[in-house]
Amino acid sequence: MRVVSGMRPTGKLHLGHYIGVLENWKKLQDEYEAFFFVADWHALTTKFDEHIDLKQNSVDLVKEWIACGINPDKCNLYIQSEVKEHAELYLILNMITPVSWLERNPTYKDAMQQAEYKKKNNAGFLTYPVLQTADIILYDADVVPIGEDQKPHLELAREIVRHFHYLYKTEIFTEPKELLTKNARLPGLDGRKMSKSFGNAIYLDDSTEEIWQKLRKAKTDTSRIKKTDPGHPDECIVFDYHKAFSPANEVQEIKAACEAGSIGCVECKKRCAANIDKILEPVREKKASLNDNEILDIIRNGNKKAKEIAKEKMQKVNKVIF
Ligand code: TRP
Ligand code: SF4
Repeated sequence: MRVVSGMRPTGKLHLGHYIGVLENWKKLQDEYEAFFFVADWHALTTKFDEHIDLKQNSVDLVKEWIACGINPDKCNLYIQSEVKEHAELYLILNMITPVSWLERNPTYKDAMQQAEYKKKNNAGFLTYPVLQTADIILYDADVVPIGEDQKPHLELAREIVRHFHYLYKTEIFTEPKELLTKNARLPGLDGRKMSKSFGNAIYLDDSTEEIWQKLRKAKTDTSRIKKTDPGHPDECIVFDYHKAFSPANEVQEIKAACEAGSIGCVECKKRCAANIDKILEPVREKKASLNDNEILDIIRNGNKKAKEIAKEKMQKVNKVIF
């Protein structure tokens, strides 16, 4: 069974990526034949005008994956734009995909409510899910791990596969199944979505001191004024972080102490910061021990393996069409 997943190289990774994506990928690499790639063309769908260094960002991204425990001996790590078959299949799929399917995609509809996207209104953004479909079915992925927000994209991928099979009276692709990621989404330190643009994220390469300084300012249960006031951990962001990063027995203890008003928020945050640091310290160390050249070697290797499979698939596709 094969799993395919990608990440856009739009900047350094934060704890939300760690909990929401990478913890999951680490499990999947043991259970599946895993293909994890840098979706650099996808980054261009929204950031074509920002001139970000996609090459360096891609190397940095793969480096962070490996620092987190993604093992290049267990899975294929590669760059989307290095395997041109992604673009070739994207082109073919664009021919058969009705624009109305893309216009009803909730991600697209939401974005079009925002002035920034409305102004750009580039074709590549509309066809984002078509490229994503190509990424997936080029490798006959059996499953794709996704968060709730990506559900419509995967459903579209399945529809496009069925449409292709119907039009060309042949079944050459695998219909991918979704593997819904269970980890709840980790909120940012201010309670909004964790995001670089909100300045509310803890990054994987933040130092011990930076982690503490950020957590210190995190929003807590606002009804708690004095240290002895009983708190409501379920209404506190710091408690979300405890649930994600502290050992289970400590989470229970914190919950009870907060509800009893026997622990202060400062102490609670200190313990939370320490537990996050315990997880990030080895990640920082591993990242520092990796150099760009060895990452480039890993990527070259991954590109090659991906290309072999992709090429074979495109031969089949082209035989059906031409
Ligand atoms: N759309 C995904 C995201 O924003 C990234 C992505 C691109 C992807 N191609 C993919 C994920 C193929 C899974 C499979 O997170
Ligand atoms: Fe939140 Fe901890 Fe304060 Fe309770 S004690 S409100 S969990 S920071």
